[in-house]
Amino acid sequence: MSGLVIRSFSAGDEDAVVALWRRCDLLRSWIGPHDEIKIKVKHDADMLLVGTIDGSIVATAMVGYDGHRGWINYLAVSPDAQRRGIGRAMMTEAERRLLALGCPKVNLQVRATNAAVVRFYSALGYTEDHVISLGKRLRPDAD
Ligand SMILES: CC(C)(COP(=O)(O)OP(=O)(O)OC[C@H]1O[C@@H](n2cnc3c(N)ncnc32)[C@H](O)[C@@H]1OP(=O)(O)O)[C@@H](O)C(=O)NCCC(=O)NCCS
Repeated sequence: MSGLVIRSFSAGDEDAVVALWRRCDLLRSWIGPHDEIKIKVKHDADMLLVGTIDGSIVATAMVGYDGHRGWINYLAVSPDAQRRGIGRAMMTEAERRLLALGCPKVNLQVRATNAAVVRFYSALGYTEDHVISLGKRLRPDAD
């Protein structure tokens, strides 16, 4: 994707990132996107990726490595820039950064109803793991 620059999040990006997540209908967090970003930045800011074209944020990916598996959340490409290879480029960079940390495998979760996103990940070589995703809340996200 020509013109796309992928870099780590920096402080002035926050409002544009939240606006992108809103446009992509990704805002489901209990604590709200601004707190979500604050927590990620405190933990490992360099793994929150933004994709820019001519300086404007058109894509994000929140990448994490837990020492065993890599995780990717908040993959988003601006609706007016989709199907131009940006999502693929963001995933390639996320995988590159995970590999550099020694990560052997990426896991990710897609809402069961989101067939188009499953097709996107399939096109990138992701396959269904046939696991049931379980979760247990230990405390509210916010401190
Ligand atoms: C999923 C998403 C990130 C894909 O980004 P994108 O930049 O449009 O994807 P790409 O152009 O890199 O697509 C790469 C390939 O994936 C497949 N693909 C992408 N979007 C697809 C769709 N809607 N339906 C079917 N296949 C799709 C195609 O094979 C595509 O290659 P092609 O365009 O040459 O046919 C984007 O649609 C998005 O932001 N969606 C809203 C947010 C979201 O649901 N994020 C995922 C959370 S789990």
